[in-house]
This record gives sequence, C-alpha cells and structure tokens, in this order.
Amino acid sequence: MNILVYDNDEQIGIAAGNYICGQVLAKPDSVLGLATGSTPLKAYAQMIKLYESGAVDFSRVKSFNLDEYCNLDVNDKNSYHSFMAENLFNHININRDYTNFLDGNANDLDAECMAYEEKIDSMGGIDIQLLGIGSNGHIAFNEPSDSFEKYSHVVKLKESTIKDNSRFFKSIDEVPTHAVTMGIGSIMKAKRILLIATGENKADAVKQLVNGNVTPMCPASVLQFHKDVTIMLDKGAASKI
Ligand code: PGA
Repeated sequence: MNILVYDNDEQIGIAAGNYICGQVLAKPDSVLGLATGSTPLKAYAQMIKLYESGAVDFSRVKSFNLDEYCNLDVNDKNSYHSFMAENLFNHININRDYTNFLDGNANDLDAECMAYEEKIDSMGGIDIQLLGIGSNGHIAFNEPSDSFEKYSHVVKLKESTIKDNSRFFKSIDEVPTHAVTMGIGSIMKAKRILLIATGENKADAVKQLVNGNVTPMCPASVLQFHKDVTIMLDKGAASKI
C-alpha cells in the first residue's frame, strides 16, 4: 500500500484529481470506477479544473459508479446519478453514453447486477477505482458482515450508514434502506485503487484497513490483498496509524 498523508483535504483533492487525470493522460480511453460521498468532491473539482485548463480530455473515458440507492428516482437530488452529474459529469466532456450506473429501480435487481459485471468485463475492466471509506469500514455499500460479497448485489443498509447519509436528506426516514453496489470482488478486480479518507471519524476504519486483520467485519481491510492501492489521508484520518 502506498500511504500518503496530507495536511488538509484541499491538498488531497489536488493530488487525487491529478492522479486520476494522470491515468486518463496515459490511456485516453481509460475505464474509471467512480465514487460518491463528501470525500471525492475536491478530487472531482480538480479534475474539472484540469479539464477546463485544457490539460485533459475525457471524451473517450468510460465510467462505472460503485453504487446507487434502490427505490429512489434517478432525478432525485440525492441519487448518485444526480450527484455525479452535478459534481463532475456536467462540467467535463465525458460522453454520457459512456457513464454507467447500477439501476436501483430495475425490476430484476439480480439480473441488473450480473449485467453490470459483464459490462465492466466487456470494457476490459476498471483501470482505476476511486473509493471512500465509511466510518464502519465499508467500501461502496459493502457493509461489515460475516463474509465478503463478491460481485454486484443488493444490500440492506446498516443503521450507521443510514445515519451517516441522513445529512443529505430532509429526515432520516427519507434515506433509502436498500442499495445496489459493486461487490468486494468487483472492486478487487480493478487494476489500481485510490482510496481517500479525511477526518478523525475515519481514523478507526483506516487503522483497521492498514494494520488490522483482513476481515469482512471491516470490508476495506481486503485491500491489503490488492497489489496496487494508494491511500490518501489527512492528518485526522491518519491519526491512529
Ligand atoms: P463520505 O462517505 O465520503 O461521505 O464520508 C464515504 C463512504 O461512505 O464510502
């Protein structure tokens, strides 16, 4: 694991945005695995800045998002479709036909998940997967559990995740209870992984990710087995390692 510690999240955003754009410069038709949440916002801002400066071209890039809520309209402001449009896709020249999401409203969610995996494989796999980490050690919506779920699947969200995400909704009752998410196996298949974490509330999860036993009780710990992981932390998130 390549662990980089920065003074603040501004610096992480610049470093992470540059890292992802570096991938696109090296391979203009890269397949990016993208994440939502507060953590990647500054990285996306840096990617937009580099695009606006003419340094990088996203026209041939493909993307796959990690997860999406179930039973939430894709046009709802809290859907991950809306998040990506607002915070990245509307501001760069990515071809929207090349952006992919799991459909949390599909009639047959299992078939939807299988088709998503097949589509990722058919495009040659993900070149770089961006990840945040939950305060409970989750990656995407792979929550702590007794076993690692390999591929894309439906999940019932843990109370702690619903609570973490309720800050975006009017009330906690509005937070969807289920989501569709890439699995641990899907994430581990990515050629490179970039995980970002900021704030002391992530310090325990980061400690387990870096120094703990590999266990599905901390899904992120499985990244110890990946051969190309870069972790960007601020001092708070790095305070227990
Ligand atoms: P956050 O979420 O970036 O909003 O903290 C990260 C995650 O839950 O993966």
